[in-house]
Amino acid sequence: MTTTPVAGRTTATVAARATDLSKIYGQGETQVVALDRVSIDFHQAEFTAIMGPSGSGKSTLMHCVAGLDSFSSGSVRIGDTELGSLKDKQLTRLRRDKIGFIFQAFNLLPTLTALENITLPMDIAGRKPDQQWLDSVIEMIGLSGRLGHRPSELSGGQQQRVAVARALASRPEIIFGDEPTGNLDSRSGAEVLGFLRNSVRELGQTVVMVTHDPVAAAYADRVVFLADGRLVDELYGPTADTVLDRMKQFDSKGRTS
Ligand SMILES: Nc1ncnc2c1ncn2[C@@H]1O[C@H](COP(=O)(O)OP(=O)(O)OP(=O)(O)O)[C@@H](O)[C@H]1O
Ligand SMILES: [Mg+2]
Repeated sequence: MTTTPVAGRTTATVAARATDLSKIYGQGETQVVALDRVSIDFHQAEFTAIMGPSGSGKSTLMHCVAGLDSFSSGSVRIGDTELGSLKDKQLTRLRRDKIGFIFQAFNLLPTLTALENITLPMDIAGRKPDQQWLDSVIEMIGLSGRLGHRPSELSGGQQQRVAVARALASRPEIIFGDEPTGNLDSRSGAEVLGFLRNSVRELGQTVVMVTHDPVAAAYADRVVFLADGRLVDELYGPTADTVLDRMKQFDSKGRTS
């Protein structure tokens, strides 16, 4: 695996990398450049938030890097695997084995208990969970005593924590969330974000999250900003205030140009 020096740490392993990634929808007059030569690394055990105005390409970037969508040019790798070199079946297997997803809607199965939902993807794949890892994930979600409950018996925040635990359970190389707290009130959102941050700090998970909310972005180690399909800025150690300041800068640039 490629290692590169990073400030404050001796080495950092690249969990995912996009190089000159472009995604163009449509043709001619109706052509939309959703991603315009984006190059970005996501380091292992780092929590990255992706921000930018509506339509700036955040979801497209996430979907292309996660192997959920094809791209027009450039390259993407997850760990040491180049996505462009994979056949459909191999790509499906890579998504299943190496990537975790958290969606805005929790997507839990209503007839299964919290615990059954957490282990479902591995049960489907016929894989045995690493019990020690699973125990630490379950301990961290703090739902002991409620693991036998069905989703309808849990609050929104608790349900989303189950969904995060499900993404973590197979110990994926990287977890992607597209506005994972978009449907939650601020308190439930804070629970889920705290849990995501702990999974990075305590378990060394790699997390990439799209968000519109500066408060949510402040939970991340790094915030990257997209505008018109391009990577325009990056901020380490964000606070809600510094994120908001950057967002204002882009807004005023947008108005004067
Ligand atoms: N299937 C598609 N066909 C054509 N254009 C598309 C398609 N999907 C996305 N786009 C366009 O690509 C651009 C980027 O879209 P994307 O969904 O990545 O934005 P986003 O930053 O996630 O926005 P939001 O914050 O509203 O979710 C937009 O201009 C969008 O209209
Ligand atoms: Mg989006």
